[in-house]
Amino acid sequence: MDKFVIKGGKALHGSVAISGAKNSALPVMAAALLTTEEVSVHNIPKVRDLITMSKLLAFMGAKVSIAELPASDYVIEASMVSDAVAPYELVKTMRASILTLGPLMARVGVARVSLPGGCAIGARPVDLHLAALEKMGAEITTSHGYIEAKVPNGGKLKGAHIVFEKITVTGTENILMAAALAKGETILENSAREPEVTDLVAMLRKMGAQIEGDGTATLRIRGVEKLYGTEHTVIPDRIEAGTFLAAGAITDGDLTVTNCAPEDLGAVIAKMQGTGVRFDEIDKTTLRVRGAKRLVGSDMTTEEYPGFATDMQAQYMALATQAEGTSVITETIFENRFLHASEMVRMGANISIDGRRAVVRGPAQFSGTTVQASDLRASAGLVLAGLVANGETIIDRVYHIDRGYEGIVEKLRSVGADIERVHGSGS
Ligand code: EPZ
Repeated sequence: MDKFVIKGGKALHGSVAISGAKNSALPVMAAALLTTEEVSVHNIPKVRDLITMSKLLAFMGAKVSIAELPASDYVIEASMVSDAVAPYELVKTMRASILTLGPLMARVGVARVSLPGGCAIGARPVDLHLAALEKMGAEITTSHGYIEAKVPNGGKLKGAHIVFEKITVTGTENILMAAALAKGETILENSAREPEVTDLVAMLRKMGAQIEGDGTATLRIRGVEKLYGTEHTVIPDRIEAGTFLAAGAITDGDLTVTNCAPEDLGAVIAKMQGTGVRFDEIDKTTLRVRGAKRLVGSDMTTEEYPGFATDMQAQYMALATQAEGTSVITETIFENRFLHASEMVRMGANISIDGRRAVVRGPAQFSGTTVQASDLRASAGLVLAGLVANGETIIDRVYHIDRGYEGIVEKLRSVGADIERVHGSGS
């Protein structure tokens, strides 16, 4: 297994370009299942999850044309769906495979998708996806670890009025895609408002879908008979951008982050400003971040968009360890998303956890050691900790980070970090 070796203490200077959003590219690619025509998608980040999604679509019978892997442009043509199945082997490596359920039900009225199961950050059930599809007329059973779904009598899904009990990002995306080809109108209340959902709506609309209310909690979808091929460029990855902004800030550097969408980063910028970090919006796609001589602790609570993203919580925790005073970090989205905290404590942080609340007392002087990455964003938090640690930090199990950060080692090196990937084998 590969590792990262980081020698801390270098301030980051220069400019770094942000890739396309993983969590936007995934549903956008799944949406290609909704049409027999060709869909071209650009700005796909070169990360493992997107390769998994392309394998999944190919498994289902879609033609996925790419010059080479990893690629940032994919052409997908699902002229037929020969196998409406998301097998365990692919779902176990990527939970977002569940995003094929809605499109499959809409397109062929039947789907067999492996249950994703829990993951390091929480139980992560998909009950809300299934309840919504049932409301739209699907019959769903689960057996032998698979979701077996079908529309009875070979019919079509019907529009329905769905109120999500809890805000769910992929749940909203799945049902949006299902509703796009359903019979009649679907109203989704308490929908997710994440920019990735809005990006999917933009893509579906180009395919001919009739959707209103994007950016709000109520989406109205009037089902159409047919959707068409299109071309789409996915939005910049706000979590990758936020991670680099935190990297610039934590190292007391001066970093310019290009190809990003500052308007999607409001809560992250505001919260980091509260610790003393300085930001300048250079233009609509460029942000400059400068550290503070003295960071001050500030409380943070994760929330659904437009609140502070749970996917930035580990990175914020790394920053908080370097700030003077106490920062109380409350994680409201996932029940077990503090696994990075105990690794940061091993590096010298003062963090105590009480349920969904972490109390961080700083500033801490990190000393490098070997730490384990437990999930994608925890890994990012540990990379940030390594950038300011004394001596050498070795991050193990970086396959987690390869799922979602394109070229993170190369990008960090280009702005002055001393980080390298060491290839390993076995566990
Ligand atoms: C999406 O996951 C993202 N993944 C996650 O990014 C992100 O952390 C999360 O949204 C929250 O922002 C993708 O977009 C591919 P949810 P998702 O359904 O959709 C509960 C990353 O690092 N829930 O919005 O799976 C759930 O357990 C990842 O890039 C139910 O109870 O998250 C959680 O507590 C990790 N029943 C809460 O809702 C359901 O049926 C929000 O989860 C669905 C969700």
